[in-house]
Formats: sequence, C-alpha cells, structure tokens
Amino acid sequence: MHLTAQEERVLAGEEGPGRAKAMQLLVALGDIYGAERLIPIASAQVSGASFKTIGDAGIKFLEDFSEHAKVTVRTSLNPLGLDLRRWRAMGVDDDFHAKQGRIVSAYRALGVEPSYTCTPYLAGNRPRRGQHLAWAESSATVFANSYLGARTNREGGPSALAAAIIGKTAEYGLHMDGNRRPKVKIEFEEVPEGLVPLAGYLVGKIAGKRVPYIGGISMTPDQHKSFGAAMAATGAVSMYLLSSPDTRKRTDVSEVEECVHVPLSELNECAEELKGDDAWDLVAIGCPHCSEAEIRAMARFLKDKKPRDECDVWFCTSRAVYGRCPKELTVLRRFGKVLCDTCMVVSPIEKMYRRTASDSGKAMVYLPSLGRQSASFRPTRALLEAISR
Ligand code: F3S
Repeated sequence: MHLTAQEERVLAGEEGPGRAKAMQLLVALGDIYGAERLIPIASAQVSGASFKTIGDAGIKFLEDFSEHAKVTVRTSLNPLGLDLRRWRAMGVDDDFHAKQGRIVSAYRALGVEPSYTCTPYLAGNRPRRGQHLAWAESSATVFANSYLGARTNREGGPSALAAAIIGKTAEYGLHMDGNRRPKVKIEFEEVPEGLVPLAGYLVGKIAGKRVPYIGGISMTPDQHKSFGAAMAATGAVSMYLLSSPDTRKRTDVSEVEECVHVPLSELNECAEELKGDDAWDLVAIGCPHCSEAEIRAMARFLKDKKPRDECDVWFCTSRAVYGRCPKELTVLRRFGKVLCDTCMVVSPIEKMYRRTASDSGKAMVYLPSLGRQSASFRPTRALLEAISR
C-alpha cells in the first residue's frame, strides 16, 4: 500500500506509540485486502463496548490504547452491557458494573462519543450519500451503505478504532464502485408488514457474502433498519440494493450470477420455525434500537390498554432518542423497562432470563448464541398484544 510522507511518519512512531499502533493495523488490513492507499473518513463507529463481549482482554487493550491515542474524527460507540442509570433495576451485578465502568472510562479517554447505540444515524451521526466511513456495527453498516448511500466496510472493533484515531481507512471492499454491484437477485412474492425482519433473515442466508438486488418489497426507513440488521446477522451482507422502477434504470446488473424467487410460503415457514415457546420470561423490543417513530407507534397502541404483567418487558433505545419522546415513554414504562445504552444481546441476559421473545430477525440469531436464550420471533404487533389487555 502506498503511504504519504506524513502517513510514513505516523507509522514510524513520530506522532506517538498509539497512532503508530493504529497505523500498523490499518496498513496490515490494507495489505491483506490489496488496498492501494488510505482515504479520509467522515466518521467512525466502534463496536466492542460491552464487558460481556470483550472481557478482561478487551479492557486491557482499550486501557493501553487510551494512554497514548485519541480519535480524530467523530466516533460513535455501540451499546454497553448495561443501562448506565438503571443497571441495578435491570439485575446487573456489581462486578459486571465495575468492569463496564473501566470500558466506559477508556473510551471516554480516547475521545469516543458516549452514544452507546447501534443506531448512530438516529443519534446525530448521520452520514451523507457518498461519504466514506469506518463503521463496525453490522446493522449500522448495512443501513449506512444501503439506505443512506454512504460507503463503509463492516469493520472489526479494533480496526474501526484505528481508523478513528488516524481519521482514515484503507480503500478496499465497499469503498470501491466495482464491489457495490449486485451479484444475486432475490425476488419476494409478498412480504407482510410484520415479517419484514424475516425477509432480511432469509436474504442473508441466500446472499452469503454477495450484494443482493431485492425485489417485491418496499419499506419505511425503520423497516430498512430491521431488515438490514437481520440479513447482516444470517449472512456477511453489508449492503443491498432494492429494485424499483427508479433504481432499475441505474443499477448495473451485469454481474448478477443467480436469481432466487422467494414465495410467501417460505417466509411463513421461516416464521413458523422461529416461533419457539408460547410462554416467555422476557419480551424484548428494540433490536436495532427503537427509533422515535417506533416508540410513538407503540405508545399509540398501548395508551388505553393495561399491562398483562405475565413477563418482563424491555424496550431498548438510544439515550438520544429517549430524550426526544418523554410523553410516549411514560406510556411504555407502564408495560416494562425502557433501557438505554444497552440491548438484549450484549447485556448479561443469560444471568436473568431463559426464554425471550422479540420482533427482531437479528435477535433470533444472537439471543440463542450470545444470550443463551430460547428465542421466539413474533411481529411487533403480536408482542404488544401479548403484553397488554
Ligand atoms: Fe443493536 Fe444489540 Fe440488536 S447492538 S442491532 S440491539 S443486537
């Protein structure tokens, strides 16, 4: 990879050991992926913020880094393992809280924004079309590439942090026009509203690593959020294109190697397979974190109802969104906990619950593995009906 004279100086340690270490990481990645140069980024988004996912080794890595480096571009951070204000009410223990506190301090010393969300684009870090980014959270990456038209690879936590420190990333993968062309066409017969996350779940399985070009579905921005999150969980997909009369004219489909038709029956079978138990310890909504529009819609539905109180309920959102809809949150709080800074997957849910229902396709992948839960998928509306009367 070609480095400028200034980049060579950073690599040689002339700007300190932290920046040198970050540059080494970027150069190693660039060499592996055949990048020719580094390009400036508009923002970074770092994953690896929960003690549950990074452990003691992660704390040491961050504390070492934070002694010698600072981020130089706007940098958002993924959810923590707890709600910073309501961790006791969640059931998190003192030891976990103490370890999580060291992670928070290290990121603060690095200059990372205390956003603690997988939806930075709803919390002020909303990139513009064509901007290059270094984002790590898979659901945010796919949203940035596909809905916002920005350009980012799915970074690992350390590589996103290195890019944030240098303010640049290696130019390869989805930063290049040639890698943003679809390779597989997927046509849905029909996608009922509540099953949009499962349509994403199936797309990830079909597409694998390929950019899919998808027809037979139209979505609101919030549906894009849950659709993309699910496909990034079942596949290594970081970008999709939607087929519409408008995009058909400008999408280069010359590299499409396979066309797959998905009948409604396949989507229904998937819903049946992921249905799981009928009795739950927890209903968890907000993977990815709820938007303002989603909170308002849920509050409208629940406003004149009473809680059933048959299981715990979590509504997960970012602190930024939390601050924007206080009236609606008062309604949701009658039915369960509104949690910020964290989520059902990266919190130590396995110490508190065994059976969790969610409306998220992504959660159906990670609740059983990372969360050791027996997971049940239900559309949002069915979950709201189940917790109210
Ligand atoms: Fe966000 Fe946690 Fe889901 S980070 S996408 S709510 S697994």
